Amino acid sequence: MREKITRNKNRALSRRDFIKSTTAVGLGAALAGRGLAQEQQQEQPLSAPPPKDRLPAPQPDDLRIALIGCGEQGRVLMESCLRIPGIRIVAVCDIWEYSRQYASGYLNKYGQPTTVYEDYRELLAKEKGLDAAIVATPDWVHAEHTNAGLQAGLHVYCEKEMSNSLEKARSMVLAARRTGKLLQIGHQRRSNPRYIHGIDRLVRDKKILGRVSLAYAQWNRSKSDMVGWPKKYTISQETLDRYGYGSMLELRNWRWFRKFGGGPMVDLGSHQIDLFSWVFGVNPNTVVASGGVDYYTGREWYDNVMAIYEFETPEGKARALYQVQTTTKHGGFYETFMGDNGSLVISEVPQRGNWAMREAHAPEWDSLVKDGLLLTETQPIQKVDTRNIVLDVRVTAEAGRWPLPVELAKPPHQPHLENFFNAVRQGTPLSCPAELAFESAVAVLRVNDVVRTRGLSVFRPEQFKA
Ligand SMILES: NC(=O)c1ccc[n+]([C@@H]2O[C@H](COP(=O)([O-])OP(=O)(O)OC[C@H]3O[C@@H](n4cnc5c(N)ncnc54)[C@H](O)[C@@H]3O)[C@@H](O)[C@H]2O)c1
Repeated sequence: MREKITRNKNRALSRRDFIKSTTAVGLGAALAGRGLAQEQQQEQPLSAPPPKDRLPAPQPDDLRIALIGCGEQGRVLMESCLRIPGIRIVAVCDIWEYSRQYASGYLNKYGQPTTVYEDYRELLAKEKGLDAAIVATPDWVHAEHTNAGLQAGLHVYCEKEMSNSLEKARSMVLAARRTGKLLQIGHQRRSNPRYIHGIDRLVRDKKILGRVSLAYAQWNRSKSDMVGWPKKYTISQETLDRYGYGSMLELRNWRWFRKFGGGPMVDLGSHQIDLFSWVFGVNPNTVVASGGVDYYTGREWYDNVMAIYEFETPEGKARALYQVQTTTKHGGFYETFMGDNGSLVISEVPQRGNWAMREAHAPEWDSLVKDGLLLTETQPIQKVDTRNIVLDVRVTAEAGRWPLPVELAKPPHQPHLENFFNAVRQGTPLSCPAELAFESAVAVLRVNDVVRTRGLSVFRPEQFKA
């Protein structure tokens, strides 16, 4: 975030303005909140887009894009779009002046002047010649914005979670079907070449892990205050009411309120639980879960959740444990898939996971290394001083790891946007079409219900179909 602030000296709202205006709410809270609302950039800062003088001039066949929702994630997507040739954001919309100014000022700096709107309805009515819309508003208005965009004849890239309500998520699938327009949902790992290599090539095609019977994923982040805002950018209560927010606190912290989002479980879990079904090739049969609002006051959604899904795979039973914590960053965020021949540890931040580990009895992986599907790393992961510790003699996995040979030299959302734009231009398949994201939403949203009822919930196969 720091990098983003310092490099945008010319943007509409200066850092000095921002700092001055945050004193009333507490600078720490406001700045910390800006960072904490991010999911990836905390650990993986983006590099700047190319300088303006090296940007290609507008071309007649550029895709013309509207950006609806210019908050933290809207800006991340906007930055990625600036790196993709032939993409021009020509209109931005946000109910908050701060976000509108930031986005339009930023785009202007990079040679993409935009028309600015407060209300998406006005944008859709007035903007002519749009090809697609990117929706990065809070979850509860995804359906409203996506469905209106599709209805207006646009292809839509909408952020995950599709919605905080399954009924609304279903309406999005139906709207895409009815209009015949493309709808990509922002589960960006689906387009990440490292994940595609690890899951499709190694786990599913080559079956290097053998029979996978356990998955574990976590997203742990440090405790955080509620997000603040510069006082001079406080929206009038009349405007907030018009858009359904009771206060600025609600607008800025929508994730924690039941009306607007699904809490950390949905916000973060949506990325990772989607991978369970990808790896196992089936949707879950059941889920049990436990969680609560145990740490914070004034927040409606659970601040910690643990969930266990059960899957019936073609190879037999499998289970997946998921946990999200918002009071400790221990271990960060990553996913692990464990089979009888080895494990895959992977994360959107490659330092936290981008390797396989082999069980000692498993068939050699040398041929995979020869074929370029894995790299070798001869050093053990950690040198342990064994003098003062009791050794666990039940070691089954080989010391050492086999890194994946695929790197992603782009911000993590860029390939997913590229996949969407390629689909718009050339009709190539989307990596996360609405139907697939709906299946994932069914699995994810159910957890919050199960935490409330403290029971076991059974999924019926037809429930995954919109
Ligand atoms: N794929 C990812 O890695 C990822 C990461 C972060 C967030 N997200 C998703 O992106 C979306 C936005 O999250 P965020 O972190 O940017 O939140 P944010 O609060 O930072 O930004 C949301 C923006 O939407 C605006 N807004 C709210 N209601 C609106 C309305 N009715 N019309 C127009 N604008 C409206 C707000 O003023 C704000 O500027 C969420 O769905 C979130 O789950 C995805």
